[in-house]
Amino acid sequence: MTLESHVLTQGSPDYRDAGLEFPADFLLGAATAAYQIEGAATADGRGPSIWDTFSATPGKIVGGDTGAVADDHYNRLESDLDLMAELGLEAYRFSISWPRIQPTGSGPANEAGLAFYRRLVDGLVARGIRPIATLYHWDLPQTLEDAGGWTNRETAHRFEEYTRLVAGALGDRVPVWTTLNEPWCSAFLGYGSGAHAPGRTDGAAALRALHHLNLAHGLAVRVLREVAPQAEISVTLNFHVLRSEDGAADSSANDEAVRRIDALANRSFTQPMLVGGYPADLLEDTASVTDWSFVLPGDVDIIRQPLDFLGVNYYSTARVRMWDGVQPRQRADGHKDVGGSAWPGSEDVEFLPQEGPYTAMGWNIAPDGLEELLLALSSEHPDLPLMITENGSAFEDEVVDGRVHDEDRVDYLRRHFTAAHRVLQQGVDLRGYLVWSLLDNFEWGYGYSKRFGIVHVDYDTQKRTVKDSGRWLARLIEGHVIPE
Ligand code: NOJ
Repeated sequence: MTLESHVLTQGSPDYRDAGLEFPADFLLGAATAAYQIEGAATADGRGPSIWDTFSATPGKIVGGDTGAVADDHYNRLESDLDLMAELGLEAYRFSISWPRIQPTGSGPANEAGLAFYRRLVDGLVARGIRPIATLYHWDLPQTLEDAGGWTNRETAHRFEEYTRLVAGALGDRVPVWTTLNEPWCSAFLGYGSGAHAPGRTDGAAALRALHHLNLAHGLAVRVLREVAPQAEISVTLNFHVLRSEDGAADSSANDEAVRRIDALANRSFTQPMLVGGYPADLLEDTASVTDWSFVLPGDVDIIRQPLDFLGVNYYSTARVRMWDGVQPRQRADGHKDVGGSAWPGSEDVEFLPQEGPYTAMGWNIAPDGLEELLLALSSEHPDLPLMITENGSAFEDEVVDGRVHDEDRVDYLRRHFTAAHRVLQQGVDLRGYLVWSLLDNFEWGYGYSKRFGIVHVDYDTQKRTVKDSGRWLARLIEGHVIPE
């Protein structure tokens, strides 16, 4: 299908708004995460993380894939940096692998691990690319998991210690920090549904993990303010943009199912981090699962820390309703949150199929959800700038004659950039937009079967091929205008 016919079948007016301009200081770039691209899992003293263990467990990852080699980025740093420069990236968001810095999750820093990130950051700065460092993108040192992982309060203090080591070593050269990436996934997919490492399926454990992740965030922000006072500090959350059963956007949360999932997935982080304390309805909804006695006096104040911006990851929307207990339960295709105890206390919420089009993940394409989300966040937190720290899509890509004509991904990006532009025009303080992902990579439970990159990776040869979407993004960055 050609791009033009695709557009016509979509028939969406938002698509045609090419030529829209972004302000000169609007930061444009791409994102990755350590475990998904680095490989070199045992190099230079790196210890095992929960993802090494989980991916080595039969049946957990599609195709039995692991991140042991991934994109071999650890050994291809210089050429990958050149690739970023070729694309003209203004910013690059990466994560630091905790088990490279502290192989067992505590104790002194492993100098060789720090050296890699120094080279990465210096290489970015030398190319005029702004580094945005995420401290935790899911690769918890296995030793800490053996002691209870995020269900153990001590892990938050270990994270504080790790943050101090990293900020001490890199604080002079990293201008932007993110504490946690998508802590909802760490808590609820890691300890609730079991779809992610460490693969536990215990709703009460997920809620404990949630709190200790929030605590870890607050402790880390305090350390960063002390050690790197000139840096910008943020957290990245993945919001569930919820539609009620009739498909209507219902962020007013009058709908019971919408309210419940909003409490568990969204307000469970935004309220403690940005406002203070946990939402009363969340405590009520989960009362049969836990008494929240793991929240200790003083925690609320530690978790609520001023932030310089909020990182927003957005891919699609979710449609929910309360299950009547009679009809067979629905499970939306491709919705990664279903199963196990991902929704402690609200297991009777159904995730319903949504209108297409869909990406290769089975996720519905809904740029209006991005617009709605950013508008809602900015009206709820008017003084907090926002940044899109991830947006992108997986499609079945093919290399033909050295090119990847991924028009579906270009189309996806164009629609979402257009939505971001509309948001800017409505006065929202949106600071930038980072595409997920720079490279095809290890897509967690899906292994290498799903490709999100704007650059194709041949996993046999490690050859990188810039996809049409990468060329398109490069043009966007060059002109600060959404290309035709
Ligand atoms: C969010 C996560 O941060 C990232 O690691 C993942 O690959 C993308 N979403 C796509 O699922």
